[in-house]
Amino acid sequence: MKPRVIVTRRWPAAVERILAERFDTTFNQGDAPLSPVQLKAAFLKFDAILPTVSDKLPASSFPDSDLRTKLIANFGVGFSHIDIGAARERDIAVTNTPGVLTDCTADIAMSLLLSVARRAGEGERQLRSGDWAGWCPTHMIGTKVSGKTLGIIGMGRIGKATAKRAHFGFDMDVLFYNRSKVDDEEIRAMGACQLSTIEDVLASADFVSLHCPGGGENRHLINASRLAVMKRGAFLINTARGDVVDQGALIESLENRKFAGAGLDVFDGEPHIPEALKRMENVVLLPHLGSATDETRVAMGMRAVENLVAFFEGRPLPDRVV
Ligand code: DGY
Repeated sequence: MKPRVIVTRRWPAAVERILAERFDTTFNQGDAPLSPVQLKAAFLKFDAILPTVSDKLPASSFPDSDLRTKLIANFGVGFSHIDIGAARERDIAVTNTPGVLTDCTADIAMSLLLSVARRAGEGERQLRSGDWAGWCPTHMIGTKVSGKTLGIIGMGRIGKATAKRAHFGFDMDVLFYNRSKVDDEEIRAMGACQLSTIEDVLASADFVSLHCPGGGENRHLINASRLAVMKRGAFLINTARGDVVDQGALIESLENRKFAGAGLDVFDGEPHIPEALKRMENVVLLPHLGSATDETRVAMGMRAVENLVAFFEGRPLPDRVV
């Protein structure tokens, strides 16, 4: 008997083929997000659930008895949408897909940084609407990126990859905050400097890029008082999780021009985006595209498959988070 697994959204075709061969797999052909009731029911019917960031799995979605599920193999590195405590209590293992989306997420952070500083979204909108009147010395003046200071909050894999791009590609000085001390040699290799508080980084950076996990104590890590520390000419980039930033405070700060702009790939309550953000020209908005390349999405799927196979063969899980 093959283990019964459910994939909550469509995955890259190459990975779905492997899942279909190796497991008794239920796919979500229509790709519509499962309802809370469907997710809860899945725990009773499947040996493994393969969710992703768009599936909310709070404690209330875990049934108290008759669970069949023994593994949640998440498609994605972030797992703040899963109540880890509830999984642990029910002896359900949880895995994620670290490493394989590092480069692409760092690339998207740099795309946002460049786009918002150089007003790329605004310029494209102007051109497409037929409003561009031609080159002139004062047209759509942005902010120079090369040689500026990048502040990073959260120096994990993606933070480090972003630091390298900024330092070696754009000659930027890199300051960062990380809860634990980062190895001195690694810091030197990134041309970076670790500061002891988030405020120290926010006060000195021309660009602030967030790379910490969401949820838990990181919810609203960047709140009104921290946003107030940023330089007037600075930009905030978020490719981490929407809830790391207090979105209301962010909108208020941007409306009052307390700093220069923001590049956002993630949102609190996504896919709902506040109208106030959509109206602002000094904000670049992307629909959570960090890992959205063919190469990376296939690699994420394959990583989840490796965890599944290891689990059902009784081997240690390569990417166990619980
Ligand atoms: C992740 O893996 O957590 C990403 O946000 C999905 O792109």
